[in-house]
Amino acid sequence: MQKKIFMPEIGEKPYVFGTHSAELERLGLQHRVWRPDVTDAWRRAGFTAGQTILDLGSGPGFLSMDLAEIVGPEGRVIALDRSSDFLNYLDSQSKKNGLQNISTHCVNLDEDEIPGDALDGAYARWLFAFLRNPKKLLERVVKNLRVGGTIVLHEYFHYHTFGFTSPSPAFDVFIAAVLKGWYAEGGKPDIAPELLTWCQELGLRIESVKPIVHIVSPENYIWQWPKSFVEVSPWRLADLGFMTKSEVEALQQEFSTFEKDGHTRIITPAVLEIIAKK
Ligand SMILES: C[S@@+](CC[C@H](N)C(=O)[O-])C[C@H]1O[C@@H](n2cnc3c(N)ncnc32)[C@H](O)[C@@H]1O
Repeated sequence: MQKKIFMPEIGEKPYVFGTHSAELERLGLQHRVWRPDVTDAWRRAGFTAGQTILDLGSGPGFLSMDLAEIVGPEGRVIALDRSSDFLNYLDSQSKKNGLQNISTHCVNLDEDEIPGDALDGAYARWLFAFLRNPKKLLERVVKNLRVGGTIVLHEYFHYHTFGFTSPSPAFDVFIAAVLKGWYAEGGKPDIAPELLTWCQELGLRIESVKPIVHIVSPENYIWQWPKSFVEVSPWRLADLGFMTKSEVEALQQEFSTFEKDGHTRIITPAVLEIIAKK
């Protein structure tokens, strides 16, 4: 596997995995892998036509665009992220796809006020794990929901399930580096249990709690998700000083060996889905 060429990140402080073009592509693939789980959760949560829904930490907006199609022309999606590069991409894609019901706002969700009141719904996937003040954001979101409004969350609850069904020393080094980088930025990967507690403390009614872990071989499409992570993110961690070049090469060699050996499966990092109503 070759080193990915990154577009420079100008004028913004990106989150730990960056906002370069390779990360944008990776988030797109990740979204295609996860789309069935996400749309199923939204349907069970009651997200539907005419609603106003927040997409918290939208990134390049793959979720926002799906939500925009669900809420339709009478509804509205408010996409919030601190990356102007990601939001510019979302603006250009919405224009291209004729979606006029998405507004984008460049905000730091650790501090800034969030737009929208009497919201019908809010969604976040892999955002709270990167925040310094996740509880404060949850409080602000709950305040802005209407009574009966619903929040849907997909966040990790046990990142350490991420691994293989065969010994994988180079992958273990990678995961240690991922966690080191994550904590260094002030985030906390396994934030889901705390989110569940805070939802209850804030008076929300928990409608559903569902763990999601997959154990798959290379011919399953889900394999492509960790594969893209291993292709892109180690180089970013190496640039930040959390891995050496030889550790990255050993990781990619190990991953290719597993992909060819025909019996090793990958175990995805454990995600918790929470659906809660005000
Ligand atoms: C792993 S990406 C997930 C993107 C999107 N939710 C998805 O699932 O495709 C994390 C996103 O959170 C954003 N983010 C991290 N910290 C943030 C902060 N303090 N304020 C706003 N956005 C933040 C990053 O810019 C990035 O777009």
